[in-house]
Amino acid sequence: MSRYRASRPLRAPIKISFVAIRNVLRMGDPRLLQVSEAVHEFDTPRLHELIGDMQDTMAHLNGAGLAAPQIGIALRVVIFGTGAPNPRYPDAEIVPYTALVNPVLTPIGEATENGWEGCLSVPGMRGLVPRYQQLRYQGVDPLGQPIERQVSGFHARVVQHEVDHLDGILYPMRITDLRQFGFVEELFPGQQLQDD
Ligand code: NI
Repeated sequence: MSRYRASRPLRAPIKISFVAIRNVLRMGDPRLLQVSEAVHEFDTPRLHELIGDMQDTMAHLNGAGLAAPQIGIALRVVIFGTGAPNPRYPDAEIVPYTALVNPVLTPIGEATENGWEGCLSVPGMRGLVPRYQQLRYQGVDPLGQPIERQVSGFHARVVQHEVDHLDGILYPMRITDLRQFGFVEELFPGQQLQDD
């Protein structure tokens, strides 16, 4: 019992949450060009802390996804999906929040489609990027439990974009027609768009 009880109203316990917003590396930083290493230990404080920091950073910057190398950690960890509609693809399926470790992508068929992409490491810009329309992705969650999904469209695009980061590939390297690359404000005047 508090000795202040008689004189002070009881207060709700203070909730302390440690939000860790990390600096996102920008294109030109050589660390974005590294090939990241596989994770070998799961359900560790280090891995949970990394993913927590990635979540906080992605949420703060309004991103659609984030890869560990973007915050300077060369491990094969990506997060994506907000569980909410994406303003750039309002008709696209909602991508569930996913933390994916050691991902492996297997395209289904040869079909590709072009779509506009942005990246938190290339702020303020958009480019038209061809991606596989359909694919299977496999990997594990932070506890080491297997994840396997077959996805298409925007969900497939986001995964391909994030997994590319693990191999040192940024979306501008995938653009086939550089006339379709530019500043958001010029390409889409008046629209507020998320970066991936
Ligand atoms: Ni990106």
